[in-house]
This record gives sequence, structure tokens and C-alpha cells, in this order.
Amino acid sequence: MAENEIEKHADELKRIIERHNRLYYVLDSPEISDGEYDRLMRELMDLEEKHPSLRSTESPTQRVGAPPLSAFSQMIHRVPLLSIDNAMNKEEIQAFHIRVAKWLEKDNITYCCEPKFDGLAVELVFENGIFSRGGTRGDGQTGEDVTDNVRTIRSIPLRLITDNPPELLEVRGEVVMPKDSFLKLNHERSMNNEQMFANPRNAAAGSLRQLDSKITASRNLVFFAYGISDPEATGDASQLDILERLFEFGFRINPDKRLCNGVDEVIAFAEYMQEKREHMPYEIDGVVVKVNAVADQTALGVKARSPRWIIAFKFPPVQATTILKKIDVQVGRTGVVTPVAILEPVKVSGVTVSRATLHNADEIARKDVREGDTVLVQRAGDVIPEIVAPIISKRPEHLEPFLMPVECPSCRSHLVKDGALWRCVNISCPAVVKEEIYHFASKEAMDIDGLGRKIVHSLVEQGLVRDVADLFTLNKNDISVLEGFADLSASNLVASIKASRKVTLDRFIYALGIQHVGTVAARRLSDTFKSLENIMNATYEDLCSIKGIGEEISNSISDFFANEQNTTVIKKLMAQGIEIVSPGDETMLMSELKGKRLCFTGTMMSMSRLEAKRHVEALGGEVVNSVSKQLDYLVVGEQPGSKLNRAASLGIEVLDEASFLSIIRGNDADEG
Ligand code: IVH
Repeated sequence: MAENEIEKHADELKRIIERHNRLYYVLDSPEISDGEYDRLMRELMDLEEKHPSLRSTESPTQRVGAPPLSAFSQMIHRVPLLSIDNAMNKEEIQAFHIRVAKWLEKDNITYCCEPKFDGLAVELVFENGIFSRGGTRGDGQTGEDVTDNVRTIRSIPLRLITDNPPELLEVRGEVVMPKDSFLKLNHERSMNNEQMFANPRNAAAGSLRQLDSKITASRNLVFFAYGISDPEATGDASQLDILERLFEFGFRINPDKRLCNGVDEVIAFAEYMQEKREHMPYEIDGVVVKVNAVADQTALGVKARSPRWIIAFKFPPVQATTILKKIDVQVGRTGVVTPVAILEPVKVSGVTVSRATLHNADEIARKDVREGDTVLVQRAGDVIPEIVAPIISKRPEHLEPFLMPVECPSCRSHLVKDGALWRCVNISCPAVVKEEIYHFASKEAMDIDGLGRKIVHSLVEQGLVRDVADLFTLNKNDISVLEGFADLSASNLVASIKASRKVTLDRFIYALGIQHVGTVAARRLSDTFKSLENIMNATYEDLCSIKGIGEEISNSISDFFANEQNTTVIKKLMAQGIEIVSPGDETMLMSELKGKRLCFTGTMMSMSRLEAKRHVEALGGEVVNSVSKQLDYLVVGEQPGSKLNRAASLGIEVLDEASFLSIIRGNDADEG
């Protein structure tokens, strides 16, 4: 190939990879398999290897990390990053609105409300559309230059998707670590005897501020864009337009943003987000309320350290102090014995907490937590409450350091040390068996309605159930003798056990409780191997070749199926009529928009047309521009046009924005 042909080919490859990168990391709707993506990357890497001049800084191959630095240089922000005033309650939000209305001499003000991410603020500089530098907020004037690290974050475009980029664009946003990645990272750290991060925000900060960007690349960081340093750069007239512009440029923006007319809608949105907070994949600590029109923002201007047009409506804190009464030890499903703090009950972000995890004995020693201490407790979303630290100034005299027991509290066998963990290795330990059964029945596994922990414990204690297969032999009379059971509830439980026998492969694999195989790995296994038999016969090498299934998981899967006790239980389960079905037979939800034609009219408050279109397409539907008899749904926003009349005359089903959202959210949640 001629030199310019090669260059053209490389450029084409880069664009294809960028597009798939965005589909995967920004839009959550990949179109190709991980294998195909890797193949494209390899092809580009080979080309760049042979022709080093092709290797520009914005190439997708540059996301793997650069040589380590000895120190960060400074990054001076051209326009300082200001801070935001806080409102702690409704009254303070109302007062903010009154100030804004008075200043602007008008009442009807539209606010753009967004979740307030709990991560760290970052500024990204793009020159003529190409990412050039990234820095932390620092003191607002000067931060640290973390360019190499930023480049490894896949949700950041290295060149903007536009034919006409602004000469200079400074994008601001938050780098966050998803809650599940935070838990996973901490788990790994605790296994390796490394200090754990206190919360996802610290984990995000610690991961971004690494002198070795290869470490950053290995952490799952996500960037959400929420603004630009100067609206004139794009000429947009409102915050919502800026967000949509950033989305078009290739950034991830928060789908939960919303335009609110007046302060009551702002408060309603904040209440809605507070409810949703626990179920979000990221931590948020409030809602940021911004006057939407750029002209109004300019009129309001800035005070000493913060703009007048913006306020953060903070949620109640997730930390509280209380007394640690006792440290108990608890045996988990994999035999790991975990110390648990028994607390004087205390309200943390609206929920009463009386137990909290202490992770492991080393962590207790490191934090020096003792029975009788006053401790700082933290609840972070659906993460289990944990002890952050003792408050040493409040420590009574003569408190003894904690000593880990040497015996299993359930079966009294000797505990074995495994890294930072202590483990009961007795496979028939009643505590372990109970947890296995409870996991098997749980919502994301076999989803056996009504089989709670307490019932599982009595079933095991009464000797009615020794392994998960025994559940399917239970009859009404076995159960109705248990404490708290009547005939009817016993029949209900038997019925739901029976109903659970039809199950998808991924759920079944997850239900088996193989160490390190969570819902995501289970789905990968099921997608790759298609049948239980194939998974059971897979070699260690087969397993390792799957993206996201590393050596540790592969080892544990191989060990699990090599163990005769496990294969016997699986045979028993099959003999009890477990039937593995394909996903389509089990869930209707996914297909609600599949193959359907939708058309939009009017303005939606929660998202742009383009975003709506992406959602529909991701769920297998199609968006068309006109109303015809072939249309399945017309989605109606504010101020709908003539399409509404036409749809009515053709008898086409009309969805309002809320119904549309609930359809796509329902699907989101299912994906989740
Ligand atoms: S706008 C003038 N929007 O909250 C400041 N900030 O105290 C403009 N934050 O660390 C900031 N989510 O990084 C804005 N949707 C959002 C945000 C957000 C989180 C952070 C920001 C800063 C802190 C402000």
C-alpha cells in the first residue's frame, strides 16, 4: 500500500474504533462483540507499530497508559473552577429561588437540575477538537496535570465528534468510580492486604492521581461532563443545550438531568433523586440546580467564590457516630469469617443501622477499632454500612484490642488464614450451607419468593435441607411445622420453589455460588457457552479466553466443577426438574420495544430526541419521522404538533413522557 493509503486506512480504523468505543462506554449499547473490538484494536496497533508516524496522541491505542511520571506538573486553569453554594433543605432552595427571581425581575424561571456526582472535578482541554490536557480542580486556580491518566478513561472522547470543532473547548465534569467497581477494587485490595478506600470518591481520586497511568487504566473510572468554562465557545443558549452539545461531541452526560419550571418542580425532582439515590450505579450527594438560560446566568454573574445562578441541594449525610457495642463474627457463603460490628442503633441517611461490616481482622487492627469505641459509621448507597474509624478522643480507658477467634463460631472447626481473610474450610459447616442456600434462592439467582434467611436457617437446623437440591423435595407438611408458618404460607412457598425451576442459564450459574462468579461473569459465561454442559466441560484456557474472566475466576470455576460434591448436587437438581430456558422465554420486558416503530412529537423534559432515539434503538425499536398506520406508538412531549391528531384519527397508541420513561427505565433496570 502507498503511504497515503496506509494513513487513510489507519484513520478509518481509528474512526471505527472510536465509534464502537462510544457505543460501549457512553451509550451502553455495543454493536460488536468484545472479540471483534479487540481485533480492530490489534490491527491498528500493528499498523502503528510498523508506521510509528501514525501514532498520534488521540489514537485509541494511547488509552493503555504512558510511562510513569516522577511528579505531576501543575495545570493552571484559564477560567477558574468556582465552587457552589449549598442548600441543606427546601427552605434554603426557596430562598435561592427568591434571590434569583428578584435579581432577574421575573418569576417564571427554568432550572436545569442534575444529580450531583460524588467524585472529583476535572477539566479537559480540547484544541481544535483534539484532547490536549486534563487537570484536577485543585484549589480552583491551579490543579494537577493528569493528562496521561485522563486519556485512559474510555468515556472521554480523544477527539470531538464534529466537523467544526471550537478552537478551544474546556470541558468540566466529574470523574467517578461506579459503586460495583469500588466494591470489587476494595475486595481485591483487602485480599492483597492493601489498605482499602473509604468510599468511591476516594477510590476515584486515588485512581486518577496515580503517577503510573497504567494503574489508572486498570481502574474503571467514568467521566460525566456537566459544563464548559465559557458558553461562548459553543454559542449555546442554555445549560441543557450545552449538555446536549457535549453529548453530541461524544461525552457521557447524566441521563437524569431535568428541566424544572419554578422551585416546586426543583424540590420534587430533588425528592425523586433522593429516592433513586440508593439504586444508582454511582454515588450522588445531592442535586445541582442551575438557571437554564445562559443570558440569565450572565445577568446573575458571580460572587466572590461561586456563581449566583447555581446551587447544590445537598442530601442528608451518609455518616453518623454511635457506640460499637460488640464485635461479632459471621460465617459467609464461601466460609469466610467476617467480623461484624454490633452498634447502638443510629439513623444514617434516613435508615436505622445496627450492624456494620468491619471487613477483616487486619482492617480492624489497621483502624484500631475496639469494642466500646465511639465510631464513625457510613452508609453509601446500597453498599453495606461500614465503620470508617474510631473516634479516639472519645475512647474510654482500658479498651482491649480485638482478637480474632481461632474457631468457626458455627461448627467449631479451626479457621485457616487465607491472605487477609480467615476461612472455615469445613464444607458441611451449617453456617456455610445456610448461606449457600440463601444465595441460591436470592432475587438475582433462582428468585424464590418468600425464602428468606430465617426460613433457610430453620430448614437447615431442622435437618430438612442439606443442600440446594433438597429444597425441591420439600412439601407443604415439612414447612407448615416450622415456626411462623400456616398452611397457606407453606403452600405458597412450595409453589414458588416449584415455579423457580424454569431458569435462564446465567441465573442458574450465578445461583450455584461459584466463588468470584457474580451476575456479570455468569452472564458472560452463559453468552459464550450457551449450555451448562459446555460450561462444565470448558477448560481453564477456554475460560481465560473470555473477556472479563481472568485467571482467578477461571481457576475457581474449574475447581468448582472438578469437585464431585458439586457435580452431584447439580445432577440432583436436574433430577428435580430444573429446566434451563432461553432469556426470551423468561422476560417479556426486554422485548417491549423490540421490533416496534415509535415516533416523537413535542418536547420531552427529560432527554433530547437524539437520546430518546438511542434508547429506543438500544432496545430493538425503530424511530420514524411520520405517523402512519404502521406506527406502534406516538410519544408525546410538551406542546405536541399535528402528529397527535393524526395518530388519534388512526387509533395509534399514545404514550406520554412518563410512560415512555417507565418503559425504557424498566428495561434499564433489567439490564442493570
Ligand atoms: S457544576 C461553578 N454540575 O460539585 C461550579 N458540579 O461544589 C460548577 N459536581 O466538585 C459546577 N456534579 O465537580 C456541577 N452536575 C454537576 C455536578 C457538579 C458534581 C461537583 C463539582 C464540584 C462540586 C461543587
